[in-house]
Amino acid sequence: MTNPSRLFLFAGGSHGKWQVQSMNTITGAPLPIITHLHVYSEGESVPEKDLLWTLRGITSNERYVNQEEKKELIAKQEGLGRPHAVQGALIPIRKKPEWWALTQEKRREIFEESSKHIQIGMKALPAIARRLHHCRDLSSFEPFDFLTWFEFAPEETATFDQLVADLRATPEWDYVDREIDIRLVLS
Ligand code: HEM
Repeated sequence: MTNPSRLFLFAGGSHGKWQVQSMNTITGAPLPIITHLHVYSEGESVPEKDLLWTLRGITSNERYVNQEEKKELIAKQEGLGRPHAVQGALIPIRKKPEWWALTQEKRREIFEESSKHIQIGMKALPAIARRLHHCRDLSSFEPFDFLTWFEFAPEETATFDQLVADLRATPEWDYVDREIDIRLVLS
């Protein structure tokens, strides 16, 4: 059995499977405007023509979930690529140096005990499918710390909007210093 790809490249430009519906800079510097996005996995060749930017991220082991939460997530969540989930969202996020200076224990406290990230997220399952990519593990020069990716059905757009609004109102988001909300539809 071959290992599934862990490394993904998000290529923005004028071609790709996903058509951009909106690009909204929530915090920090914007990204150049694109009309299309394509997601490449490890080993796929990336055509350089007509690309405006690329962002790389790698899936990794979990840092915050406890055993009970993990069990609940596995029971509730659904995978990417569901035929009805034609809406996508790519939300690249960078957190402040102050976040990275905290201990793991303190970060978990902010992430879940005060912000309830998992509890909030769980309410959106299984409607919203997700994949979290880490960037810091690749190099010190990546423009974001995380590339968050979501897929859902058009009728779940309000669920997704509520989810991001709830998360952005939490203490965890006080540590976010760059965030771009890119909404997509399969073309
Ligand atoms: C669909 C519902 C969601 C669920 C169930 C969910 C769940 C989770 C879980 C379990 C983790 C921790 C992974 C670990 O243990 O390392 C996590 C991390 C993260 N999530 Fe979510 N999430 C959801 C939605 C979102 C949304 C909408 C965003 C962005 C707007 C987001 C941004 C992040 C980020 C940036 C991290 C990494 C935090 C860090 O390591 O500092 N999540 N999420």
